[in-house]
Amino acid sequence: MCGIIGYIGIEECYPIIMDGLRKMEYRGYDSYGIAVCENHKIELRKHVGKISEDGSKSIPGKMGIGHTRWATHGNVTEKNAHPHFDNKKDIAIVHNGIIENFSWLKKMLEKHGHKFRSDTDSEVIAHLIETYYKGDLEKAVYKAVGLLEGTYGILAIQMSEEKIVAARNGSPVVIGVSESGNIIASDVSAIVQKTKDIIYLKDGQMASVTKDNVRIMGRTFRKIENEIEKIEWDIKEIEKKGFKHFMLKEIMEQPESLQNTMLGRIKNDSIKLSTGLSKDFLQNMRRVVITACGTSWHAAIVGKYLIEKMCNIPVEVDYASEFRYRDPLIGKDDLVIVISQSGETADTLAALHEAKKKGVKTLGIVNVVGSTIARESENGIYIHAGPEIGVASTKAFTSQIISLILLALSINQELGKNVDEELLKSLKSIPEKISSVLETSAGIRNVAEYFYNHPNALYLGRGINFPVALEGALKLKEISYIHAEGYPAAEMKHGPIALVDEKMPVVFIANKNGESYKKIMSNMQEIKARNGVIITIATEGDEEIKKISDHVIYVPKCREELMPIINTIPLQLLAYHIADLKGLDPDKPKNLAKSVTVE
Ligand code: F6R
Repeated sequence: MCGIIGYIGIEECYPIIMDGLRKMEYRGYDSYGIAVCENHKIELRKHVGKISEDGSKSIPGKMGIGHTRWATHGNVTEKNAHPHFDNKKDIAIVHNGIIENFSWLKKMLEKHGHKFRSDTDSEVIAHLIETYYKGDLEKAVYKAVGLLEGTYGILAIQMSEEKIVAARNGSPVVIGVSESGNIIASDVSAIVQKTKDIIYLKDGQMASVTKDNVRIMGRTFRKIENEIEKIEWDIKEIEKKGFKHFMLKEIMEQPESLQNTMLGRIKNDSIKLSTGLSKDFLQNMRRVVITACGTSWHAAIVGKYLIEKMCNIPVEVDYASEFRYRDPLIGKDDLVIVISQSGETADTLAALHEAKKKGVKTLGIVNVVGSTIARESENGIYIHAGPEIGVASTKAFTSQIISLILLALSINQELGKNVDEELLKSLKSIPEKISSVLETSAGIRNVAEYFYNHPNALYLGRGINFPVALEGALKLKEISYIHAEGYPAAEMKHGPIALVDEKMPVVFIANKNGESYKKIMSNMQEIKARNGVIITIATEGDEEIKKISDHVIYVPKCREELMPIINTIPLQLLAYHIADLKGLDPDKPKNLAKSVTVE
């Protein structure tokens, strides 16, 4: 959730670290700080607020560490911002993660005379390193992390040593190697400005990084080699390209991101998706269990509808945070699919570990290449949506759905069933259809103008569009702070209808070609009878729907399997325009962070 970065090299570190922090601000943006070491002295600077608004002068020096915070322990204050010093101010650290045994460690350290300056869990790390420091930072960090319980990505510097020591357990740490120096960060986006040669640190590993060398150490402190990997990111991918917000840019680039998800995977009317799942396994597969969090969990529910209908295999969907703790009944004939944009979500990663512990086959559907979930899943599909910087997930969701459709098609193909050629054709036409929906953005802004000063909203859909209703409501609440609920349309009668009156906007997803069109029309009548204001996502050419709707947003007709993708686009735009009209920054909604690496 927090972003950490360090640089050591032949260049001034301040601009490199600040630029990296700006790139990682989506990970956490309540406060930030930087520590620079020069002439055996560490200068520390901390601020509350956004890095983009920073106007402070740079600090000279060629080695430093920085941090952008998403508060877990302690309020958003300058004293709680990282980096944190030890007692003597010789050692500075930044930390991403949660130290679960910090109160016990703090008490123990206080008994030995350590004075704490913050309310954070992280500060204990600096004091522990100090306790063990006998002129060798690597050894001191190694001993200190041996006492930590919880998750961490840590960077530490000491005023007399020309190195940054990194340690990782459950929170990402990547090292960018270049001739002008080395960068260590929690996120590739902070590194790609300098180099595309990356070393991924694994859990339990440490690294000692100097200006011209990287030494990796394993759990026993012995030197080991991790490969240098080339990443294919382009710095332009993480820039706004003239759009007001990353979220809008990411919504608008969906024709391209969906194309990339399918690239090379549909050839001559067959599916070329290498999942790693063998025919033998698929023939005996009893059940699929999909687990994820947030928007990825909504994609999982779409996946349930898709796989059950297309492959005739039962699918269960579970929140990763529930799955991991409930001792799930899964066995060797089951497939556990984990879906994650970031590939770092703590609960989803723990769910993956739980499945692996039980000896069950796993498959990750992940966006961020090289992320922990991608590396630890036995089998996998990259969705190739490209970097998603806006905190609210948009293009990743639609690419996750396409990936699930490709997976279902490839399972059928592997099992010798006829490939649904008509669906393949529709898949190929989806980028074009999305482009036409995006062109209606101005009309959607008009609907937003009606909507934006309402305090509540309901989103209703049926069947495969029920998770779309959930996703529409989540998008709205997280970036516009309007309270919104998504429901299966028929469930509305069992409670939520009590809330409906002339002040309640109700968004219906009611495609004419859908199986449940007639039923949803009846639900719309029920809302109208209670004076609710109806906004409908409808199929082009459906004139009938205008009679009952107060506002209609049309989307093109296509196969039902693809409707969740088509229908989600206007809901993303609606949420975006509402947030923008309210003067809010949809890229940095309050209390949220992009990558939820704490439980
Ligand atoms: C909502 C959103 C979150 C994430 C959730 C899982 O817009 O972005 O709900 O979907 O935190 O994140 P990933 O997919 O990275 O595991």
